[in-house]
Amino acid sequence: MRHLLSAKDLSRETAIEIMDTAEGMSEVAGRSVPRLPALRGKTVVSLFYEDSTRTRTSFELAAKMLSADVLTFSAKGSSVSKGESLKDTAQTLAAMGADAVVVRHAASGAPKLLADSGWIDAGVVNAGDGTHEHPTQALLDAFSIRRRIRSGDSTGTALDGVKVLIVGDILHSRVARSNIWLLNTLGAQVSLAAPATLLPRGIEHWPVKIHFDLDRALEEKPDAVMMLRIQSERMHAAYFPNPREYSRFWGLNDERLHGLSDDTLIMHPGPMNRGLEISAAAADSSRSTVREQVANGVSIRMAVLYLMLSGARRESQ
Ligand code: CP
Repeated sequence: MRHLLSAKDLSRETAIEIMDTAEGMSEVAGRSVPRLPALRGKTVVSLFYEDSTRTRTSFELAAKMLSADVLTFSAKGSSVSKGESLKDTAQTLAAMGADAVVVRHAASGAPKLLADSGWIDAGVVNAGDGTHEHPTQALLDAFSIRRRIRSGDSTGTALDGVKVLIVGDILHSRVARSNIWLLNTLGAQVSLAAPATLLPRGIEHWPVKIHFDLDRALEEKPDAVMMLRIQSERMHAAYFPNPREYSRFWGLNDERLHGLSDDTLIMHPGPMNRGLEISAAAADSSRSTVREQVANGVSIRMAVLYLMLSGARRESQ
C-alpha cells in the first residue's frame, strides 16, 4: 500500500488485511510497554489544516507505538498560518525526510494532490478531506462492527449480510461517504435515513437504500445504527427548521433508544452533539461503541502505517 487516499479504492482483500493487522496491533496496545520496533528510523508527519481530536492524536500515538519519529504541523502555529502553500509545506516536509504524511484538509482532493504531485516522496494518508472521504474512520468503524458482531476470532472475515443504518447529515459527511463504500465492499447492507435537504445530489446512484423516516428505518432492525454529527461549520443555509425539530425527527433520543434491540450497536464517529443527533443515554449506553471506536482507531492507524512503511506490503492499491 503506497498511499491511503480513499475507502472507495480499497479492495475487500486489502480492507480485511488492514483489519486483521489491527487485531494484532490491539494486542500490543494492551501491553504494559505498548511499543513495537517496526518503524524505528521512519518519520511520520501529521499535517492538519483542520481541527481534530481523535484522528490526530490516534495517528500520533499509533506512530509512536510503532517507534516512528513524529513531526506535528497544524495550520495554527506553523507557517501555514502565514500563507505558506501546500506545495511549499510539502517540500519542507520532504527536506526533513518524511516517510509518511497524514493530512487533513478542508479541500476535497488535497491528499490526492499531495500524493500525485511529486512534491514529496512519502506515503500519504487521507485523515479527512472536505466532504469527500475519511478512510481510516471507515476502517475503524468496520473493525468495531466486526469485533462486536463476530464472536470469537473474527480474523479473515468481512461483514457479509450485516445491516448498517447511517443517520443524519449525509450531505456534509466524509465519514458517511467512506463508510458507504467500504461497508459495501465488505458485503454489508447499507441504509441511510436523512431529511432530503441533507442528502447529496445523485444519491440514487449510490449502493444504499434511502429512508425519509427514521422510525421506519429502525423497524428494519439494523445491526448497527451510525449517528452522524450535524456539521454546522459546513452549513451555509438552513437545512432543517431548528435543532429541536431535528432532534425529534432525526435524533437517537431516549424513546428510540428503548425501542432498539438489545444487540443493536450504537455508533458515532465523534465529536458528538449530545442532545441533538444523539441523547446522552444513547451515547453512554452499553450498546454504544463510541469509546471502542476511539480505541480501535489507534489499532487501525497502527495497521495502516505498518503496512505502508514496514515493507510488508509495498505494492500500489
Ligand atoms: N471522527 C473524527 O474524525 O474526529 P476528529 O475530528 O476529532 O478527528
